[in-house]
Amino acid sequence: MILGIICAMQEELDEITKELALTPVNRIDLCSNSYSVYTSGSHTIVSGVCGIGKVNAAVTTQLMIDKFTPDKIINVGVAGSLSQNLVFGDVVIAEDLVQHDFDITPFGVRLGQIARMDTFSFPTDSSVNKLILDNLALPENKIVLGRIVSGDQFIDDKSKAEFLAKEFDAVACEMEGAAIAHVCYLNKLPVCVIRSLSDMAGQDGEAIHSFNDLKFMAAARAAKVVVNLLEHI
Ligand code: ADE
Repeated sequence: MILGIICAMQEELDEITKELALTPVNRIDLCSNSYSVYTSGSHTIVSGVCGIGKVNAAVTTQLMIDKFTPDKIINVGVAGSLSQNLVFGDVVIAEDLVQHDFDITPFGVRLGQIARMDTFSFPTDSSVNKLILDNLALPENKIVLGRIVSGDQFIDDKSKAEFLAKEFDAVACEMEGAAIAHVCYLNKLPVCVIRSLSDMAGQDGEAIHSFNDLKFMAAARAAKVVVNLLEHI
């Protein structure tokens, strides 16, 4: 199987290549980004660091699909918690994703609904999600299935975090996952989004500090999920 792994930040990908002891067999530069190819057991892995935000994420996803023909795409990294019950290091597997900043509400359309699309949220691969949840136990952390929302905003505000949680029934926020899932939806390609929580998205007034201090820890937790998944997929 060819698995595409997309991370927003190099720090997130480094935790995965470190855990899996991956050394690239090939590297290709495309559209200001580099893509690496590795062999892991019977699988081929292609990785890309997309950069921050939905446009960067969409470009990398489509280029990866076109150039490397992955069977599945996995987006891995960190996120902010929108729940009081999920804290630093806990892992959210996205059941589906919504772009929380897509706003055509003046037309009477629900916030997050993309104009003229036949879906409100972008679903992930339920069989991969099940594989993860059935096989993984992280001793120190919770691992949950839930909705993730993405937008071109770093959420560092208690009332905004509470609004997103309530409006979308979401448990975590980040800036790329829904765009990656959107591109995969258009390409009819299975996608999985694995995020570990680096901060409370402002619920505790400390999002920036937490993010800076805990992003490596959270990225390492998310990487452990990928390692475990690769053993079972
Ligand atoms: N990624 C990690 N934490 C985040 C936050 N609070 N808002 C948006 N993206 C994030």
